[in-house]
Amino acid sequence: MERIAVVGAGQMGNGIAHVFAQSGFPVTMIDVSHAALDRGRATIEKNLERQAKKGTISSDAPAEILGRIALEPSLDAAAGAALIVEAATENSDLKYKIFTELDGIADSEAILATNTSSISITEIARRTGRPENVIGMHFMNPVPVMKLVEIIRGLATSDETTKRVVELSRQLGKTPVEVNDYPGFVANRVLMPMINEAVYCLMEGVGEAEAIDQVMTLGMNHPMGPLALADLIGLDTCLAILEVLRDGLGDPRYRPCPLLRKYVAAGWLGRKTGRGFYTYQ
Ligand code: CAA
Repeated sequence: MERIAVVGAGQMGNGIAHVFAQSGFPVTMIDVSHAALDRGRATIEKNLERQAKKGTISSDAPAEILGRIALEPSLDAAAGAALIVEAATENSDLKYKIFTELDGIADSEAILATNTSSISITEIARRTGRPENVIGMHFMNPVPVMKLVEIIRGLATSDETTKRVVELSRQLGKTPVEVNDYPGFVANRVLMPMINEAVYCLMEGVGEAEAIDQVMTLGMNHPMGPLALADLIGLDTCLAILEVLRDGLGDPRYRPCPLLRKYVAAGWLGRKTGRGFYTYQ
């Protein structure tokens, strides 16, 4: 099967590497940080073991799947991959830099996908000499569980690239949904204002965090409340996405809640730092 490269071994990157390897693809997971690569691999192992314990995969599958994932510290390892999925931090300058470099490294036919949650695909594609091969492939957290892949076409993305990425998403057992390139696409255009409004409710004392979340879990049947979900996504990521919505759409209704800013400034980023709107062991 064609080789897949995933750039970034964090929460999203390791999940993306996990699902491709589970579907039989050889995967190269790339991260400049050796520690991040080790943590990413350990997370995949833990999640595979959880799946084996539940019986959704066989007991020898975890070793076999992990055996398909190579860890590499340099972007050069993306050479020869048919598809490269970038899942670095949600920072536009970083993504532009990665795509400029990837354009010089990747095979000429390779598809360059980004897992960005909100940054313009058209702008990212402009950093390459092959904007027709650049596309958004937005996975949801936790990647092994969530069915959706939001497929975002940039202005120059070709029909062939879109078709191929739709097929690959189906091969992962996911459901691809095609949308166009506007700030936040659909997922975060709809989700982030809800999360932001929940943070305003907390700041204004409309309710305690638990009460706000319970209204949404018990009242709207959401699997988790917006504040718990923000902790899962990462408060820094939520803030970055809200800034893209505000700047890209120019409407003050996307103004990030000052309490969200304060938490990010304090380094209370959610589950990954052990503290966000809730505390974690
Ligand atoms: N890897 C593999 N399997 C996992 C997993 C992981 N990381 N996390 C959970 N699971 C599995 C569990 O093993 C369990 O499997 P079974 O159904 O076979 O028993 C199942 O998922 C449910 O998990 P739990 O029983 O532990 O917990 P839960 O029922 O509370 O579900 C949840 C956890 C799936 C996270 C659920 O709360 C949920 O769906 N939350 C909403 C998640 C969401 O909205 N994600 C989108 C975020 S937005 C985003 O990602 C995009 C962005 O750009 C910001």
